[in-house]
Amino acid sequence: MKVLQCDFLTAASDPEGFPPANVPEVVFMGRSNVGKSSLINALLGKKDLARTSSDPGRTRQVIFFRINGACLFVDLPGYGFARVSKTIRAQWRSLVEAYLSRPAPGKLAILLVDARHAPLPLDLTMRAWLEDRGMPYRVVATKSDKLSRAALARNLKEHLKQWSRPDLLIPCSALTREGMPQIWAAIDGMLNEAKS
Ligand code: GTP
Ligand code: MG
Repeated sequence: MKVLQCDFLTAASDPEGFPPANVPEVVFMGRSNVGKSSLINALLGKKDLARTSSDPGRTRQVIFFRINGACLFVDLPGYGFARVSKTIRAQWRSLVEAYLSRPAPGKLAILLVDARHAPLPLDLTMRAWLEDRGMPYRVVATKSDKLSRAALARNLKEHLKQWSRPDLLIPCSALTREGMPQIWAAIDGMLNEAKS
């Protein structure tokens, strides 16, 4: 899809704040600071539509962006930030679960993991949530620019041991734009399916 128009729609701190689910949605999830907002900006060719932070764990809202009036990009709050209270963690969980149970005409999840590290237990939990709900997804191993090609290849091999679906793993970088065409192909595939 060629991005002709994109803008911020709304930010929701609870499910009542979610907008009507009348177009397909692409949801970006992953631990705090993994690069969700940077990836959204890179895919849309916008510098700072989705705000990026070097202050992990700040965003606790579900943020909705409108693309061409044809679909929504959804920036979920990050997880795995050590210094948050049990209450915040429970809030995060109920907000994310409410989002994942929300019906939409089409859905694709982009689960971001750090190409430099093995998946976190919570990354694997997220994948299990997606599998349980039968939601189509891709695992995107981001910040690939921070590794040599040899180290990236080695890490991807390690990642594949965990993800068991090599066809679903995409190395990417918001800086070099590696992986953008593959991620767009997955999004376009979902949008075409939702149309038919
Ligand atoms: P939260 O909203 O706090 O959960 O973080 P996030 O997942 O949205 O991460 P964000 O996009 O804010 O990026 C976090 C930091 O990583 C920023 O300093 C980004 O510049 C950096 N970053 C994100 N993607 C990449 C990438 O592909 N390569 C490199 N080198 N840095 C990246
Ligand atoms: Mg963010």
